[in-house]
Amino acid sequence: MAWHKVAHVKEIPEGEVIGVEVEGVPIAVYNLDGDIFATHNVCTHAFALLSDGYVDDGKIECPLHQGIFDIRSGKAEEGPVDEDLQTFAVKVEGDEILVEV
Ligand code: FES
Repeated sequence: MAWHKVAHVKEIPEGEVIGVEVEGVPIAVYNLDGDIFATHNVCTHAFALLSDGYVDDGKIECPLHQGIFDIRSGKAEEGPVDEDLQTFAVKVEGDEILVEV
């Protein structure tokens, strides 16, 4: 496990998500009211990138079949999803977002 710089805070507006890749692992990085979180970017139901989905009230809705996960915990909450998302530790140093992978 190591910390990797993935983005600058200003690249992710509040309530938005971006997709990055670290050591071959696709990761979704979210800004929830100024706090940054990271989960695996691939839905656990089928192949869809959650960074193409919709952030609402701390949840991410998958763009393919509308499965819903809690962004902070990765918990699968609604729709056809029953496997939780992997989450990653995040820290912010200055304007840089680092994710532990
Ligand atoms: Fe995400 Fe089906 S691929 S809910």
